[in-house]
Formats: sequence, C-alpha cells, structure tokens
Amino acid sequence: MFNNYDKIANHYDVLSRLVFGKSQVNAQINQLKYIPENSSILIVGGGTGWILEYISKIFPMGLKITYVELSSRMISLSKARNHQNNSINFVNIGVEDFSTNDSFDVILTPFLFDNFSKPKAESVFKKLDKLLNTHGLWFMVDFSLNVKNGKWWKWLMLKSMYLFFKLIRIVEASKLIDMSPYFLKDNYGVLKEKFYYGSFIKASIFKKMTFI
Ligand SMILES: C[S@@+](CC[C@H](N)C(=O)[O-])C[C@H]1O[C@@H](n2cnc3c(N)ncnc32)[C@H](O)[C@@H]1O
Repeated sequence: MFNNYDKIANHYDVLSRLVFGKSQVNAQINQLKYIPENSSILIVGGGTGWILEYISKIFPMGLKITYVELSSRMISLSKARNHQNNSINFVNIGVEDFSTNDSFDVILTPFLFDNFSKPKAESVFKKLDKLLNTHGLWFMVDFSLNVKNGKWWKWLMLKSMYLFFKLIRIVEASKLIDMSPYFLKDNYGVLKEKFYYGSFIKASIFKKMTFI
C-alpha cells in the first residue's frame, strides 16, 4: 500500500531534521498551546509519535487522544513514547478506513495531506470535517508553495522530495494539493497562521464555524 512509512520509520525523524532542522517540529509544537484543556484529540499521521511527548509536557493529564497511523512500525515507536496520564487509543489503519462514533475537539494532520492525490485529499478532508465538533480546531501543518518569495527553490525541493519518495515507493502523490481553499469554502476561519523554513512550511489553525 502507498503512503506506508514502515520502510523508513526508524530513520524518519533523523532524515526530516537533516533536511529541515527543527522547522517541522517547531511548526507543530508552537501550535500546541492552543489545545483546550481536557480535549478529545484526533492525530492522523503522527509518525514516530514525538508529538505525544510534547503534548504531554504541556498537558500531563486530561486529554483523550486517538492516534490513527497507517504504519505499524510508526505505531510501535509511538506506543513507546511517554504520554503521562493522558488516555491514548492507537489505531493502526489508514485514515480512509478509520471509523468511529466519537467526535473530536481538535484534529492534527501534520504533513499528512502532502502524501495524497487530489481525490484522496478531498475525501479525507470531508471525512475529518465530519469528525470535528462545531467550534473545533484543526491544526494543519504542511508544505506551502503559495508565498511569492523564493518559489523556485521550494518547487525544486518539493519535486526532489516527491521523486525520492516515488523511488522508494512510499508516496502516491506527485504534486502538492493546497488544502486552504477547502477549509475556507467549508466555513472554517483562520485562527492562526505562521510560516517556517523560508515560508516553505505553513502552520495554520482553522476553527470550524457554525453554519448560518
Ligand atoms: C511525512 S510523515 C509525517 C510524520 C509526522 N507527522 C511528523 O511530522 O514527524 C507522514 C505520516 O503519515 C502517515 N500516513 C500516510 N498516509 C496515511 C493514511 N492514509 N492514514 C494514516 N496515516 C498515514 C505515514 O505513515 C507517516 O507516518
């Protein structure tokens, strides 16, 4: 199956920090203070689970986290993380096959949508939108090509990354889908937006509004 990071799970964090330094990490941890206490949280594509330790440093208890991850190797690494007294339900499945009766106050999708072709990105967006409570927050962190300065190197870097992941047969996508229009069309408001790594990484917090 595509988008399964089993092959590189053990080296993923080192590789990503080699290329992006702490930018990918900072983009995610700077958002965590906006998580409301005692929230129910859905994390999709959390990778090795390092984010669980950062979340649990800020909130040592009271969170109910569902952790959906396609790679079984990533799930094993994540289970070994210190999550203090928060409750975590690890689900080793692709988000497209995930089903639940729960709904969530916060959804995190860090560097998830860059893996998807357009049809999959659209269907996963619709699915997650249904699982997020009204007034809930969606923490979206991913690459971005939509800022004017230095577009060529971002384009080149993205192309090289997709080529690398295609060669090792991990990622199905060959082009980045800009997800912001989907949020804005679906009545989400932008609560926070911050750029990292020369604006190549965008970290947004979207708030789900009530339909009028
Ligand atoms: C680029 S990595 C990012 C990992 C982590 N968020 C980070 O920033 O370090 C993408 C992660 O999403 C997972 N993934 C890819 N497709 C998925 C899917 N359909 N459902 C759930 N997880 C998926 C991969 O296994 C991988 O761990």
